[in-house]
Amino acid sequence: MKRSFTNCLSLRLLRLFIAGMLLLFLFCACTGQKKEAAYTIGFSQCVESDAWRKTMLEGMKRELTFHPNINFIYRQADGNSQKQVSQVKELLQKKIDLLIISPNEADPLTPVVEEAFSKGIPVIVVDRKISTPLYTAYVGGDNYAIGKMAGEYALHWLNGKGKIIEITGLPKSSPAMERHKGFTDALKNYPAIQIIHQVNGEWLNQTAKKEFAAIAPQYPDVNLVFAHNDMMAHGVYEVYKNSSHPQPAIIGVDGLPNAGMQFIAGKEITATMLYPTGGEEAIRIALKVLNKQDYVKENLLQTTVIDSTNVRIMELQAAKAISQQQQIERQLGMLKEQQRIYNNQRTFVYILVTSLVLSLLLGSLAFYSLRENRKINSKLHRKNQEILEHQAQLVEMSAKAKAANEAKVNFFTNISHEFRTPLTLILGPLEELLGSTRNQYNLSQTLTLIQKNVLRLLRLVNQLIDFRKIEVDKMRIKASENDLIIFVADIIQSYKSIAQKRNIDLRLITKERQLPVWMDVNMLDKVIFNLLSNAFKFTKDNGYIHIYISRNDNNAIIRIEDNGVGMGADAVAHAFDVFYQGEYENYKGSGLGLALSKELITLHKGTITVLSEKWKGTCFEINLPLGTAHLLPNEMAPEQQQETKQAVLYEHEKIFTADLKNETVEKPETSVAPSEKEYSILVIEDNADLRQFLVNKLNTQYEILEADNGQTALQQAFDVIPDLIICDVVIPGKDGMALTSIFKNDFRTSHIPVVLLTAKTAIEQQIEGMKNMADAYITKPFNITFLLQTIQSLLGNRARLKEHFTSGVPTGLKTQTIGKPDRKFINDFSALVESNLSNEELTVEVICKQMGMSRVQLYRKVKALMNSNVNDYILNTRLQKAKYLLKNEPYSIGEIASKTGFSSSAYFSSVFKTKTGLSPKEYREK
Ligand code: FRU
Repeated sequence: MKRSFTNCLSLRLLRLFIAGMLLLFLFCACTGQKKEAAYTIGFSQCVESDAWRKTMLEGMKRELTFHPNINFIYRQADGNSQKQVSQVKELLQKKIDLLIISPNEADPLTPVVEEAFSKGIPVIVVDRKISTPLYTAYVGGDNYAIGKMAGEYALHWLNGKGKIIEITGLPKSSPAMERHKGFTDALKNYPAIQIIHQVNGEWLNQTAKKEFAAIAPQYPDVNLVFAHNDMMAHGVYEVYKNSSHPQPAIIGVDGLPNAGMQFIAGKEITATMLYPTGGEEAIRIALKVLNKQDYVKENLLQTTVIDSTNVRIMELQAAKAISQQQQIERQLGMLKEQQRIYNNQRTFVYILVTSLVLSLLLGSLAFYSLRENRKINSKLHRKNQEILEHQAQLVEMSAKAKAANEAKVNFFTNISHEFRTPLTLILGPLEELLGSTRNQYNLSQTLTLIQKNVLRLLRLVNQLIDFRKIEVDKMRIKASENDLIIFVADIIQSYKSIAQKRNIDLRLITKERQLPVWMDVNMLDKVIFNLLSNAFKFTKDNGYIHIYISRNDNNAIIRIEDNGVGMGADAVAHAFDVFYQGEYENYKGSGLGLALSKELITLHKGTITVLSEKWKGTCFEINLPLGTAHLLPNEMAPEQQQETKQAVLYEHEKIFTADLKNETVEKPETSVAPSEKEYSILVIEDNADLRQFLVNKLNTQYEILEADNGQTALQQAFDVIPDLIICDVVIPGKDGMALTSIFKNDFRTSHIPVVLLTAKTAIEQQIEGMKNMADAYITKPFNITFLLQTIQSLLGNRARLKEHFTSGVPTGLKTQTIGKPDRKFINDFSALVESNLSNEELTVEVICKQMGMSRVQLYRKVKALMNSNVNDYILNTRLQKAKYLLKNEPYSIGEIASKTGFSSSAYFSSVFKTKTGLSPKEYREK
């Protein structure tokens, strides 16, 4: 998204830049050369067939080459005034900015010139004049002066006397009129000179020739012909050229190099009055007007006489002018070329600069894109990181899911464990029932045990089923309105006898007389029974269990408080978890009850919480919403069925109180005193029934010690040093594995065979048990006969081992079957005795002190490992040493007695004789 935005932005910038560059380029191209404004000049020419007119046009065009911006529209009227009028109108329609006109005749063209002028279009009149002052400027020769100059030349030529024929231009054109006037004015004071005839030559060669040819024969004595232009003068010459009549002097006007001057040089005419065309001047003035510069309105051009005296120089001048003109034109051409090269180079420079700026901009654009890309990349990187973190979270979640699944599996393992103990207790007694039905005491006790455990199993199974129902969302409450006070009081009643027996202060405390609550009695039963059951389980005799019922605006509140063993913070935090595998310690064995209770209360839209402190007590609080607003219609059972409730109450009472009752039949007096039994066994089992069962089975043959937790077990084992230990793996405090490890690594108890007893069948756990040096591992449900045989076999092995130790000299004994701590004990003990043999003060107390053991421990250990009591062992060792000395050393009896720790030789001899049947002396001599 961002990338496309950046790309789009880049593209826009690029476009903008290119457009800007083009504009800049055009701007530079335009400002590089300062240009005139573009104007359109219209030029209306009266006629163009003659050289003079052509020269005029060329002059204009030449001048216009300096002003390339000027648009020039040219029209010529073939000497036709009407045509010229319409051409001017056409030019005006074309929106010309300025009109140049050489009117064919003055009067016919005047209106159209005035029209143009009144429209605001400047009008420059050239050569011929117009009959109105409404024009902008005039450019042309002074025709009056020209006429006068021609008259004066004629006067001079004729020397004051002669006959003249005048050939005029169009009589209504201003040059014709003015030239005539000037001419006649010059001659008017010379009566000897006469203009004998006048011909209208219409400015044209052919007309003049024709008209003159027609009248010439009438005037053979004519001395001079004055033609208003050179073309007409040449027509006169042509008339004479082909006749035999002598040619008079011919004067023309115009003086063009390739016309008039040439005629003079060829002696075809006599003289000509220079009449400049004014083409260049007309354009120059036009531009001044257009550019709002100062200009002169009347521009009369200089004139002069050209005849045979100066024609050569005039021709040269004209030629020079022409060559200069050509030179200028060439230079103009070169200038244009230079301009073109300059333009090209300037374009090139613009392109170069543009490219440079373009590259710079593209560079910065690239830099910007790069930076944007980096930003995008780092964003992507961050996103990637997030994905990775997410992935890690998923991995973690999957690990948690795995752990939860494992917990679930563990839960079922544990539940199986819960099943196995009662099963064992059913199977065991049953087997026994089958074997000894005659023994009434055993039978009664066994049957009670079976009943209790069947009920326990039933409760567990019920809870499991309920749980499953809630899990698959099949359990719905069927609430009916019940008095909570009566309801709870009924349940409490079920626990009265147990409370009495154990002297537990069980009380319902409430201010309410009645408290109607919509509830599912079957469910709430289970919850209250379960909580009370737990309270009794974890409250010691003489404690209290108080049940408070109260209400606030919205809720009924039930609190069950005890001063029992309580729970640690961890156990509290997970009290309602099904799968929690933490160290429940004192609350171990509460099974599914709490988790199920929570679910059942939640179905009531209520809450259950727990507050507990280790060794101080526990308080469960239930909040149940009052009224029916929280219930769906299908969650309400309108009619309460009292009978069903009673039945349920009875069943729950049986199930939930079974564990708490201890209605064993009084034990008959046993005939065998415990002290007379050869071996002692420590039974470590937290399940009181199972422990009792084992005790009953074993106490006929063995002295039995009991422990229901790790701490007591350790204490008993070290205090008493039993001959064998039966230990459950799962017990409160240190578990069976840990206890075995401690026993086997302490030299005081290392010799004691340990039988591990557990429901856990997993082979790994058996291996672990063996690693901890357990001597046997028996899984529940076990066969009691198999257990008894295992015990006998282990004790038998131990007896054989003892014999082995005590059959020879006690030092240096080695055996592979004896554990390392035991070997160390034997070595230490025998070394201590050996090194103190001469010390008659060597007593049990001294050895205990040295070995860091109690008297009982020392006695038990020496008895267990060496089948001897400590004093006997010391005495035997003294005697063994004495025997050795008697046979191998030359000491006297007295000395030997001293060396082996006897206080006198008489005492030595008496003891020696008692033990060996021989006196020391007899033994030595034997
Ligand atoms: C050309 C011309 C010139 C003359 C001028 C007068 O057409 O006849 O020879 O001087 O016109 O307008």
